[in-house]
Amino acid sequence: MKMIIAPSILSADLAHLQDEVDSIERCADWIQIDVMDGHFVPNLSFGVPVIRSIRTALPIDVHLMITNPADRVEEFLSAGAKNITFHAEAVGDTKARKSLIQAIRAGGATAGIAINPATPLAAVDDVITSVDLLLIMSVNPGFGGQKFMESVLEKVREAHAKHPNLMIQMDGGIDESTAALCRKAGANNLVSGSFIFNASDRADAIATLRGT
Ligand code: DX5
Repeated sequence: MKMIIAPSILSADLAHLQDEVDSIERCADWIQIDVMDGHFVPNLSFGVPVIRSIRTALPIDVHLMITNPADRVEEFLSAGAKNITFHAEAVGDTKARKSLIQAIRAGGATAGIAINPATPLAAVDDVITSVDLLLIMSVNPGFGGQKFMESVLEKVREAHAKHPNLMIQMDGGIDESTAALCRKAGANNLVSGSFIFNASDRADAIATLRGT
């Protein structure tokens, strides 16, 4: 499966957001929008208006770090999200998870489920064969620029061994050294914010994460 690199705009210069998106347009595969509600995570970021303000041909990947994600999926679908990932910790009920996955797909997007560093892989056994993507967080969600937690790599190896065809995304503290660990463990979709947007040569930074 091709390695996907998804720059996260959380670490971009938001005063020049379109320029920042333009700077990665030709070398990234997806663009990730970190949606935070100040309740599920201790930070408030942005929502649909920001997505609507961006002009890009890249698939928009919306990472919902919010409580009650089912209440907001339609608005992100209508804003053009091509992947929507919700957190297992925000939706505990299997029926609710499956209904949310179905709603995301019915809206023309792929559906992902995310697990925080402390959440075991078994916590998503009920839907792991129903989702298009599993996001294994390598930081506790809420802020960019945090330190990569190597302890999650075991979960990545386990998920890849059990589900070799599943897209495994990782997010949090991903740079040139930790990206190599992620790839080796079986991740094929890497989200990176500060490493990419702090780089003067962003094409080179993205190629480094890709391992090329
Ligand atoms: C955490 C966010 C960050 C962001 C990437 O809630 O999801 O992980 O996307 O941040 P960096 O790459 O700067 O750790």
